[in-house]
Amino acid sequence: MGSLESKKGITMTISDRYAVFGQPIKHSKSPRIHRIFAEQTGQSLSYDAQEVPAKQFSAATDVFFAEGGKGLNCTVPLKELAWAYAGKKTARAELSKAVNTLTVQPDGSILSDNTDGCGLVSDLMINHGISLAGARILILGAGGASRGIIAPILEQSPQSLVIANRTIDKAVNLASEFHDKGRVSGCGFAALNKQQFDLILNATSASLSDSVPPLPEHLLAENGICYDLAYGNQPTPFVRWGIEHHAAKSLDGLGMLVEQAAEAFFIWRGVRPDTQAVIEVLNAERKASSPFETITTNKKYV
Ligand code: ATR
Repeated sequence: MGSLESKKGITMTISDRYAVFGQPIKHSKSPRIHRIFAEQTGQSLSYDAQEVPAKQFSAATDVFFAEGGKGLNCTVPLKELAWAYAGKKTARAELSKAVNTLTVQPDGSILSDNTDGCGLVSDLMINHGISLAGARILILGAGGASRGIIAPILEQSPQSLVIANRTIDKAVNLASEFHDKGRVSGCGFAALNKQQFDLILNATSASLSDSVPPLPEHLLAENGICYDLAYGNQPTPFVRWGIEHHAAKSLDGLGMLVEQAAEAFFIWRGVRPDTQAVIEVLNAERKASSPFETITTNKKYV
């Protein structure tokens, strides 16, 4: 916390400022999550959501930091722009080429980081007790969301990692960027025929249009798990696909949302909040929402 001496000699306290930029941003849960983290850990800070179109990203970010902002989260469609904006990049930001966290350094430079991948891995392994070591893992989609999770998954030594995408070239090219980090390959959806996976992660934006990629019937191994990086108040189409295909667990990305936020909070404040408590609050809230409500717009970790 800093302090300001006003003209009348009254000392005002000011909190460190944080924000999330994106478009759309109105329904972002990030301000809520960070405010709960701040309360839990006794940190004095503000965290707001600001609607920022891609064209205005650079100018809005300049203003945010010039006015003393300490850290910024960026979400769709700004993650690639945020990556390009920052003068310094962590190793995981370098690999993902898209970032969700910008932080002012003591020398005034901006450091970019991507906490999505470790947020996903924490949710899978710690919150859900899912072991990735030795697992056959499939990622659906080869866009920015996939790129950010590949290295953190490979670090857990799965037996194999397959990236399947509607545009086949993108999957093949993306996989080739990570060949030195583990057993990873890329293909189209049709090539998944006759393969089976212990864990299927949906990183396509198909949920946003209420659809699921065309997947073969017997794709999920016995006791296999489905996980949608998107989340909603109602089960996403891919979570429903998992339930219909007898997944041992069919999960959405609410836990990942909270975990990636916790990692950003740790970068900014140096303390780790209790994510489980926040996940419980958010889960209780969505369970309390009307069961008859038809929600077709799913969100991606904002
Ligand atoms: P994000 O940053 O959310 O990953 P993106 O980079 O635009 O967004 O990537 C979206 C991903 O979802 C892509 O892999 C896209 O497939 P293409 O590369 O073929 O475009 C995938 N996708 C979007 N809608 C889809 C659909 N209806 N069925 C299958 N894949 C879809």
